Parts: sequence; structure tokens; C-alpha cells
Amino acid sequence: MGKVTYIGADGASTTIDVPEGESVMRGAVYNEVEGIVGECGGGLACATCHCYVDEAWAEQLGTPPSKDERELLESASAELRPTSRLSCQIIMAPAFDGLIVHLPASQY
Ligand code: FES
Repeated sequence: MGKVTYIGADGASTTIDVPEGESVMRGAVYNEVEGIVGECGGGLACATCHCYVDEAWAEQLGTPPSKDERELLESASAELRPTSRLSCQIIMAPAFDGLIVHLPASQY
């Protein structure tokens, strides 16, 4: 279990306990955090789970996005930033406790 803080485009902040091995996308969807849709259920097919990893966490995440993730990010509706990730591809691990992600204004 680790805490993930989701910060919406309006500045609203929600902190959720996300179980180890679960994705940051599911943590949001299961707890009805607005701003992450996760339409494909984490199958790397929709890009509606786009988020911006907080600058302070960008390097701590370690693993960079895969080629498939990078390609799909290109179809995200919101602007891409260097810290853009698909939240379904960020899997909670103990080292990620306290992770902060920012959400785009819209996923469509
Ligand atoms: S939930 Fe569809 S790509 Fe992440």
C-alpha cells in the first residue's frame, strides 16, 4: 500500500491508498478521482489515463515509459509534457509511497 496524491487541473487534491501491484490509474478509477478515465482498463489502448508525474517524482519512478506507451501518449488529447505518463503503466511499489501526479483538464 502506498499513498498517491492526484492533483486535478483545478488544483483539487485527492490522496488515495493504492495497493502494491495496482496501477495508479486503477487507484483513481476505483476511488472515483475525476480526471482519469481509464477507458481501456489498462490495456494500453486509449490514453485516457494520461497524467503528469510531479517533477519531484519524475526521476524517482526509475523506469521510463515503454515504446508502446510513448507511442500511445501521442494520441492523448491534452498537451504532452516531459513528465507525461499513462497512469495505467505506473504500478505501485513501496518506493512510490507519496507519489504525486497531476491530471490534465480533460482526457478527450
Ligand atoms: S487505461 Fe487505457 S491506456 Fe491506460
